[in-house]
Amino acid sequence: MENSSHLLVFLIAIASLCSTITISFCNGTVNVFCKESERQALLGFKRDLKDPMNRLSSWKGSGDCCSWTGISCDNLTGHVRELHFGNPFKTIFGIPDPFDIYPEEADWRYALSGKINPSLLHLNYLNHLNLSYNDFEGIPIPSFIGSLKNLTYLDLSQAGFGGVIPYQLGNLSNLHYLNLLSNYPTMKVNNLQWVSSLVLLQFLDMSWVNLSKAYNWVDVLNMLPSLMELRLSGCELGHSSPHLSMINFTSLAIFDVSDNENFGLPRWLFSLTNLDSLYLSSTFLGGPIPYGLTSMTRLRILDLSSNLLNSTIPEWLCGFDRLESFDLSVNELKGTIPSAIGNFTSIISLNLEANQFEGKIDHLLRDLCRLRELWLGYNKFSGTMFESFERFPCAANSLEQLWLSDNQLHD
Ligand SMILES: *[C@@H]1O[C@H](CO)[C@@H](O)[C@H](O)[C@H]1NC(C)=O
Ligand SMILES: *[C@@H]1O[C@H](CO)[C@@H](O)[C@H](O)[C@H]1NC(C)=O
Ligand SMILES: *[C@@H]1O[C@H](CO)[C@@H](O)[C@H](O)[C@H]1NC(C)=O
Ligand SMILES: *[C@@H]1O[C@H](CO)[C@@H](O)[C@H](O)[C@H]1NC(C)=O
Ligand SMILES: *[C@@H]1O[C@H](CO)[C@@H](O)[C@H](O)[C@H]1NC(C)=O
Ligand SMILES: *[C@@H]1O[C@H](CO)[C@@H](O)[C@H](O)[C@H]1NC(C)=O
Ligand SMILES: *[C@@H]1O[C@H](CO)[C@@H](O)[C@H](O)[C@H]1NC(C)=O
Ligand SMILES: *[C@@H]1O[C@H](CO)[C@@H](O)[C@H](O)[C@H]1NC(C)=O
Ligand SMILES: *[C@@H]1O[C@H](CO)[C@@H](O)[C@H](O)[C@H]1NC(C)=O
Repeated sequence: MENSSHLLVFLIAIASLCSTITISFCNGTVNVFCKESERQALLGFKRDLKDPMNRLSSWKGSGDCCSWTGISCDNLTGHVRELHFGNPFKTIFGIPDPFDIYPEEADWRYALSGKINPSLLHLNYLNHLNLSYNDFEGIPIPSFIGSLKNLTYLDLSQAGFGGVIPYQLGNLSNLHYLNLLSNYPTMKVNNLQWVSSLVLLQFLDMSWVNLSKAYNWVDVLNMLPSLMELRLSGCELGHSSPHLSMINFTSLAIFDVSDNENFGLPRWLFSLTNLDSLYLSSTFLGGPIPYGLTSMTRLRILDLSSNLLNSTIPEWLCGFDRLESFDLSVNELKGTIPSAIGNFTSIISLNLEANQFEGKIDHLLRDLCRLRELWLGYNKFSGTMFESFERFPCAANSLEQLWLSDNQLHD
């Protein structure tokens, strides 16, 4: 009997807990309110922001801040874990595009601006911070972000930050993802040494950050063994470590160094044998298509566009049977397209535009059954176009976009 009366008291206690505090224990979900100190920290953060479209209108009163827009809390402890302030309002620009050549554009009317209040430092358990596509109008990234030591994701891309990137970010040793893609011309580093502490990084994008003073950038990146995606487009990278022959981060899958005039073709590049995507557009590559690429036969995306390549398409290149997107446009390439191009059995998008190619294109259509986009314009191709289509129903069925202007083709 004594046991059952204890049970009764216990049940009454549970019942009163359910009716006064968080009900939700009763229906099985664990719903914990946010901490008062963290709520104050968020309100402080909001106070310094300009929010013209009222994106943060739910941030008010004494309610549970875990339910405010953009906030995600730990469902057991109630600590704020994630802040999603990336401007989610996007307009789609351009044509459907499987390879992100035409990125979505943010709708800048929804951008947050103003200052970033250090009250964020009270969010001790924060591990995900996203401020992308806002407009901080050229202010530098605050150095106190380097004290949010639990961060694993930090996305400050295209957020209008300018000036020198604070080296204190080197203290974020738990980061897996760091996106500093700049859309503000003054963003730069004085030195890149701090990046070498971020040993867990898998993703790093510093595109359009001026890295011209980071002489040792290759040695720094060589300390990051987990890197899978590295984007350094438009960084004014200088020649670096010409004697280095091997690179450490061989798990790299995606490498983008397009728009770097002085990149050259360092020997270590060809030790990245697991690459899936390589972007070397606008890097002033001259001469023949580099033979070193033969070490990268796993490539799925290869972009060599807008360079000074002036050879023919070599036979060996046709062995890249995993290629899905291949861009050779705007070079000085010449000659006929080798018949072995039929070996590109995975190709979806092929761009040969604006070169000096000649001869027939029939064989391009013969085996390329997955081809959806084909750019051939501004060359010297010749022959009869529509007859080719009748003979090769395979490509005719898959093709969605075809550009032929300025050639010597007729129908
Ligand atoms: C549990 O109860 C809470 C509070 O009434 C409610 O918001 C939530 O939707 C409920 N969850 C489920 C799974 O029924
Ligand atoms: C709580 O979070 C954990 C880890 O994030 C997740 O696996 C789990 O499903 C969540 N539980 C509830 C009730 O939402
Ligand atoms: C950050 O937010 C933007 C806009 O909502 C989103 O596109 C992006 O994927 C987010 N970044 C991360 C790392 O989740
Ligand atoms: C990071 O989070 C863990 C729990 O996930 C916590 O124990 C630790 O104190 C936090 N670190 C900092 C610097 O706040
Ligand atoms: C990291 O933080 C420690 C103290 O916590 C400080 O001494 C050190 O200078 C910081 N390093 C960087 C790169 O910010
Ligand atoms: C990049 O930085 C270098 C060195 O500080 C400077 O000379 C150069 O003009 C900068 N580039 C741009 C586009 O501002
Ligand atoms: C390769 O990376 C490891 C660990 O990050 C580092 O200790 C080593 O010095 C690197 N090797 C070179 C050649 O940079
Ligand atoms: C091809 O390019 C290389 C390097 O830019 C140059 O030296 C060579 O003269 C060019 N050859 C022709 C035929 O244009
Ligand atoms: C093209 O594929 C055929 C059959 O798989 C193969 O024998 C030939 O070597 C390949 N050609 C090139 C240039 O890789």
